[in-house]
Amino acid sequence: MGKERIPRIDNNEKVRKLLLPHCRLKYGEIWEDSVRGHKIGCLDATDENDTTRLMGNNKATLAIQDPPYNVIVGNSNTNNLSKISVENYIKWSKQWVQNIVRILKSDAHFYIWLGADQNQGFQPLPDFMIMMREFNDLKTRSFITMRNQRGYGTQKNWMAVRQELLYYIKGNPDFETQYTEIPKILRGYYKNVNGEVKENLERSKSNTIRPGNVWVDVQQVFYRMEENVPGCYAQKPLKAIEKIILSCSKKGDLVVDFFAHSGTTLLAAEKLRRKCFTIDIDPIFAEITIRRFEHLRGTGKTGWQFRNPFPEVKVKLGIENDEKIRPKGVLQKTLFDISDNAKNKEAICKS
Ligand SMILES: C[S@@+](CC[C@H](N)C(=O)[O-])C[C@H]1O[C@@H](n2cnc3c(N)ncnc32)[C@H](O)[C@@H]1O
Repeated sequence: MGKERIPRIDNNEKVRKLLLPHCRLKYGEIWEDSVRGHKIGCLDATDENDTTRLMGNNKATLAIQDPPYNVIVGNSNTNNLSKISVENYIKWSKQWVQNIVRILKSDAHFYIWLGADQNQGFQPLPDFMIMMREFNDLKTRSFITMRNQRGYGTQKNWMAVRQELLYYIKGNPDFETQYTEIPKILRGYYKNVNGEVKENLERSKSNTIRPGNVWVDVQQVFYRMEENVPGCYAQKPLKAIEKIILSCSKKGDLVVDFFAHSGTTLLAAEKLRRKCFTIDIDPIFAEITIRRFEHLRGTGKTGWQFRNPFPEVKVKLGIENDEKIRPKGVLQKTLFDISDNAKNKEAICKS
């Protein structure tokens, strides 16, 4: 495994030139997994022909979409990132949403991660929500916020830690509650159940908290975690995608993600025995998605931590110079990894 790290890939022409010859897919091509039938395409989410070709006669139970937000992500000092007008962003979004709606089953779930730039009228979130009203087949279901902390924030404003997730449904799909690992500690709320007075912990189905639409128990991915994929600037935590897949699909169901990037949805689908069709317009991210999937199948590992997913390419453009201060080893537990607390739930309940 190569030790040299790769910087953010999408806008670094030098690195892109080095990586592109090692990518299996050219635009228009689809890779298929012979074991579980997953598909990874280098295709355009806004192109009806591309998405129809990907799907064939298949329809999806669940769509989890994480488009570019038209908001600058990562270190804007080192990147020449550009935004398009909100109007054009919404036109572009409408095209891929149409393609998703076309390929959903009559009863299906549709999730969209989106940004809200607090320095730019909270766009594109509000205009995107208004645009979504044009899709009569879709009903709004929930507006989730995941806590997503990067760095230490500012002293001059509330720290920006929100990550917005919109949830729509088509028809009347099944939903199965997934409890968090956060132990219930509130006691003393009594209720008469069939003539017997019961305390709330005795009455509940689980000793841990039922999830609401504010998620505080998902750790943001960073370089010390095994699931980290170097070069991917917008990777979502596996735990968040697993929560969605578990509550909104069954084993064998088809999950789609038209903005693969580091392939998180595919990985979660593979782990949970769902089938996944995923695409990225960029051959490098399509390749990273294939490699991450093969890496999981081959090693059981969910990412490369801070190691290079292209070990055959010696990339010399490190962005961070923190090798000296970086502690050795993979971070197995984080602040939010509270399963030990969950194991102690009995003790907590009895106390
Ligand atoms: C925010 S990232 C998705 C992150 C992903 N959820 C993950 O966990 O790694 C958005 C991705 O969409 C891809 N993309 C942008 N425009 C696209 C299009 N028209 N069709 C398909 N993919 C596109 C980008 O190349 C980028 O990799």
